[in-house]
Amino acid sequence: MAKPTLLIVDDEPSSLELLEGYLRDKGFHVACAVTGTECIDKARSLQPDVVILDVRLPDRSGLEILKELRKGENPPYVIIITAFHDMGTTIQAIRSGAFEYIPKPIDVDELEDAIQRALELSRMRRRQAPAGRPRDQEFKKGEIIGKTREMNEIFKTIGVLSANRVNVLIEGETGTGKELVARAIHSHSAWKDQPFVAINCSAIVENLLESELFGHEKGAFTGAVSSKKGMFEIAEAGTLFLDEVGEIPVELQAKLLRVLQEKEFLRVGGEKPLQLKARIIAATNRNLRSMVRKGAFREDLFYRLSVATVRIPPLRDRQADIPMIVDYLLKRIGTELQHRIEGVEEAAMQRMIRYSWPGNVRELENILTRAAILTKGNLITDAVTAPLLNKTHPGKGTDEPPKAPENQPAESERERILRVLNEVHWHYGKACEQLGISRPTLSRRMKLYGIESKSRRGRSS
Ligand SMILES: Nc1ncnc2c1ncn2[C@@H]1O[C@H](COP(=O)(O)OP(=O)(O)OP(=O)(O)O)[C@@H](O)[C@H]1O
Ligand SMILES: [Mg+2]
Repeated sequence: MAKPTLLIVDDEPSSLELLEGYLRDKGFHVACAVTGTECIDKARSLQPDVVILDVRLPDRSGLEILKELRKGENPPYVIIITAFHDMGTTIQAIRSGAFEYIPKPIDVDELEDAIQRALELSRMRRRQAPAGRPRDQEFKKGEIIGKTREMNEIFKTIGVLSANRVNVLIEGETGTGKELVARAIHSHSAWKDQPFVAINCSAIVENLLESELFGHEKGAFTGAVSSKKGMFEIAEAGTLFLDEVGEIPVELQAKLLRVLQEKEFLRVGGEKPLQLKARIIAATNRNLRSMVRKGAFREDLFYRLSVATVRIPPLRDRQADIPMIVDYLLKRIGTELQHRIEGVEEAAMQRMIRYSWPGNVRELENILTRAAILTKGNLITDAVTAPLLNKTHPGKGTDEPPKAPENQPAESERERILRVLNEVHWHYGKACEQLGISRPTLSRRMKLYGIESKSRRGRSS
């Protein structure tokens, strides 16, 4: 095999030179870039095996660059280096497809160890994927999976509702696919080329929600330095999706009701009435009827919004859909993680069917993502899923007692770290994520417990 090519991206000349010299001495082809744009250009022309990327760059965020590098057919492995070693960035980086995450000051042994592991994987990938092999990983974005009677009813309803413009209320527990259904109604309709605008009514502070919805004129309130369109205007003749509509404060409910009745609205501080052209789809995971009974939600608004309703049943009430959804999600996750999962062991599938899924499909997706990261081969085994499902909601949904390590004599921290490191093949980023600690903490603990990095062990002098 030809000399492996590395691309180092860092805007600090001194650290760039140091690394370049060191890695060149180790026998790599080394190219350098000092900005994000240069990095993308060189990655395109040189097709490096590994990119060593500083997250803090002058022109663009390193995480953005990372995502861009990881697109495409055979993306390079990316090792992130940074001085900002917090858990959040680590997780985000690993999620966005970083291979490893190394804090500054860089321990060169650790870096070389990561490079060697990345190159090993890239050799494996080349052996496994002969050029031109069709990708069978395709899945349609936004597809709603299900074959139960309940889901079939929902598909039919989507068909009916996409043909007319009545307001729709979508009800369902968290993670059941409410937004997915709202988007499907929009994208199957005749006005699918118009905007679909989503606003989460619970995520915006109360006194800004009105101007978010209706827009405002310059000077309407302190801080309104220029006029701004609201979501009703931005949605044009498309769909306005009011997520978590139950969280709209009572005073604003009155204004919203008036808009729906009169098909007209004013920007905050504005005088010219604007036409309401968008179709409204609202969603809630709360019981709006009982909120109406308690006086927390206006009854008249409730009726305006729920001309048609779609109720999505929780996942535990449509167990027969679980295997299909699992297959679908695994394809999607496999594409995201660049880690192909072929299937799920029968015992693991049975466990997932029995589980109660309080977080519904979103929780299923999270669990499968974690399982895909933890699993060694291409099959998700029950050994991997069992602790994931027991840990999140102990005792719920499974009829077996939780397995080790929880109810065994406490595993020492050293043993735990070693076990996790072995499970993730010494991928420090993944180990941190699983252990719930930051990179520097992991380094310190490894030193404390005398756990040596794998490269140093291999070299055992
Ligand atoms: N039937 C389904 N088939 C495939 N994917 C699904 C299905 N239902 C939900 N999902 C996926 O699960 C995730 C959660 O869906 P979505 O965001 O639509 O749920 P939600 O009900 O709006 O959740 P929340 O109440 O948390 O806002 C998404 O990634 C979505 O693609
Ligand atoms: Mg949602």
